[in-house]
Amino acid sequence: MLQPFIYFFMEKAVQPVTPLADARDGARKILLDNNRGGYTIPSPRLYPFQWSWDSGFIALGLSYVDKTKAFDEIRSMFKGQWSNGMLPHINFHHVDENYFPGPDVWGTKECPWAPRKVATSGITQPPVFGFILRLMADRMTDDPEFIELLKEIYPSIVHFHRYLYENRDPYDEGLVYIHHNWESGTDNSPLWDEALDTIDVSSARDVSVLRRDLKTVDADQRPTNENYKRYIYLVDLFRSCNYSDKRIFERCPFLVQDVLFNSILIRSNEALIELSSLIGQDDSELRKWNQKSIAALNNKCWDEQTGFYYDFDLVQNKRIPVIVSNGLMPLFAGVCTPQQAEQLKHNLLSSFKNGDYLLCPSCAVDEPSFNPVKYWRGPVWINVNWMLYHGLKRYGLNEEAAIVKQTSINLVEQSGFYEYFDPRPGISNDKRGLGGNCFSWSAALYLDFLFNF
Ligand code: GLC
Repeated sequence: MLQPFIYFFMEKAVQPVTPLADARDGARKILLDNNRGGYTIPSPRLYPFQWSWDSGFIALGLSYVDKTKAFDEIRSMFKGQWSNGMLPHINFHHVDENYFPGPDVWGTKECPWAPRKVATSGITQPPVFGFILRLMADRMTDDPEFIELLKEIYPSIVHFHRYLYENRDPYDEGLVYIHHNWESGTDNSPLWDEALDTIDVSSARDVSVLRRDLKTVDADQRPTNENYKRYIYLVDLFRSCNYSDKRIFERCPFLVQDVLFNSILIRSNEALIELSSLIGQDDSELRKWNQKSIAALNNKCWDEQTGFYYDFDLVQNKRIPVIVSNGLMPLFAGVCTPQQAEQLKHNLLSSFKNGDYLLCPSCAVDEPSFNPVKYWRGPVWINVNWMLYHGLKRYGLNEEAAIVKQTSINLVEQSGFYEYFDPRPGISNDKRGLGGNCFSWSAALYLDFLFNF
């Protein structure tokens, strides 16, 4: 029943470049160096704590390096889970002044649902753990320690998904909303521009001197200070609502049904349904949620005319008409018809590839907001490519899948394990890598790309 993915196609146009062994050792070393005992940070200095969706991808990579560390990674993440089910986007397991906003800004200690033993942020991130465990199961169903982990974590993941459906889907549509751009994981995407612009920052506090990210990464790759004011305005708002979703819903200017977040939720629901028989769990609630979500994503976010999926802004009550890689993720969720998948493929090869750009830019190259070096507004991300690869394979689009996979492998082997990469043609390899270096999910998913044939 649990079939491993089979890789059988190699694209001729994108060839491997360097001996694999060096980079493979490099990837292992990054994961071990970034491990802080029980959990792994995304990148030294820039991101010094445990981030949620990073932690899922990292656990998958660690499962090729050190199984115990992989299992600990997941257990540590769920130590931060709130009693209402929310899985926070950051666990501050230790003190580190190199990040803003830290635990004092979030102030979740006063919130009745926050855990007592770990300081956490007060928002969430895409729910990846269902599909991460499902992929591990391909290799580990006979491993009693894996089954033990699954038995322990499975109910917590269902609790998280239940939190999302019960608190983030006010009209009972089957689509959950995010109330901060950081919840999407695609923090600086042009998707959020309009909603963020509705926030009046004239009297918001200036946090520019508190930012730590600009000490590590060039300002031209990072969000502006004006945008940081808006991000912190939202955090202050959530805190003033004492993290009550009901109150936040009434007052928040940013409520978006994001295609990527919902695609990941659907894929994880599906994974949990597939895993349920392994540990004798009832999957009827998951099936009900998933059926509704799949229909809603197609009804509300799909646009037949342009052949693409778009986010929906619940405050403005309209679609967000921007073509970004989030809109390709229904392939990963498996919710498209073969015709829809063909239309997405067409968009991938025209709007994103635009001749010789490296797949897959995080924003379509012909969008006015496209910027090849700015965080989530153009650069290639390895985790997006990894999900896109699995999505394309799912629809038998093997040629495009192979391009995406080989491009990802070449990027890290030629330019290093960076956070993101300039997709423009003609850029020299030493200039392509951007953002944080020694980036954990680039290392982790590189390993998965290599092993997942
Ligand atoms: C950035 C990314 C986010 C990631 C975090 C830690 O904020 O946008 O997706 O989780 O870094 O790597």
